[in-house]
Amino acid sequence: MPTILAIESSCDDTSAAIVRDGIVLSNCVANQEAHRLYGGVVPEVASRAHQLNIIPVVDLALKKANVAKKDINAVAFTRGPGLLGSLLVGTSFAKAFALSYNLPLIEVNHMQAHVLAHFAEDPKPKFPFLCLTVSGGHTQIVLVRDFMDMEILGQTLDDAAGEAFDKSGKLLGLGYPAGPLVDKLAREGQARFPFPESAVPGLNFSFSGLKTSILYFLKKEVAANPNFIEENLNDLCASIQAIIVSTLMKKLRKASKETGIREIAIAGGVSANSGLRSTLEEWGKKEGWNTYIPAFQYCTDNAGMIGVTAHYKFLAGDFCEQDIAPFADKGILISQL
Ligand code: KG4
Ligand code: ZN
Repeated sequence: MPTILAIESSCDDTSAAIVRDGIVLSNCVANQEAHRLYGGVVPEVASRAHQLNIIPVVDLALKKANVAKKDINAVAFTRGPGLLGSLLVGTSFAKAFALSYNLPLIEVNHMQAHVLAHFAEDPKPKFPFLCLTVSGGHTQIVLVRDFMDMEILGQTLDDAAGEAFDKSGKLLGLGYPAGPLVDKLAREGQARFPFPESAVPGLNFSFSGLKTSILYFLKKEVAANPNFIEENLNDLCASIQAIIVSTLMKKLRKASKETGIREIAIAGGVSANSGLRSTLEEWGKKEGWNTYIPAFQYCTDNAGMIGVTAHYKFLAGDFCEQDIAPFADKGILISQL
């Protein structure tokens, strides 16, 4: 029955969780509002805010779980990928805590944790399953053979799906992060603007062309009618969401057909998107898939998913040394675990 303290600090959310025997007892997240002022995450601001937030968030996680520090059996932390300064705060805290209480350390890959967030609650997918992992930094179709055996079948060649939401929303004048706002406004709109879908072969994605086509489209329309964006905001959001969701879903269906796997999951911040969630369920019925969608608290960055992943690493005896450093590099991904 290991009780694990898990820390997540890869980007702009400081999170701590207590996971006992694979069950999440508490999952606390401190969001950083400061980035809204700048229209994106400012790495230096993020690491300084992590520094301020980490001790109160850990204290809150312990309190909510009703667990004392002496009852912790291991400390887990996100090693990467992420922003170096942000990762350093979580890594240093985890190492110091483990050293003080003489506990083993467990390093966790952030992308692997997004996938294994599905094991925080029922129903859990059965192996092998496909997971579309869509966040602000990544877009991957992952073949999950086991907890520690994952292979990336396809990924974005440029922007991630979350970035596509955020950058398109920014062109409409929406604040950061625009993804949840586009989602909200899209519910009141019609997808009547036909933005082009990228034609990338295989299971890879490309989203960088979308923002360029939206930019030129808006320039042309606004030149003719300066109020074009305000007058059509809901329909613009619905159209952006529709094209991103349809691109993601078509590749997911292709991966299912090629592998013959019908256990289909989505994960990461963009899996909170209502259009993606409902389309997955709809297509799942048509295609005969068993579909898995995480609860909202396990979609966006959270330490609960880090603790759940660490639980399986603990059972496998997969601990790390005290001299471990974070990795910020996007290149070290699940396939290289
Ligand atoms: O997984 P996550 O919290 O952090 C990363 O690892 O990147 O994902 C954040 C991304 C952001 O781009 C955000 O705009 C997007 O997820 N996101 C959404 C929604 N909620 C979060 N995008 C579309 N619709 C949403 N409801
Ligand atoms: Zn993430």
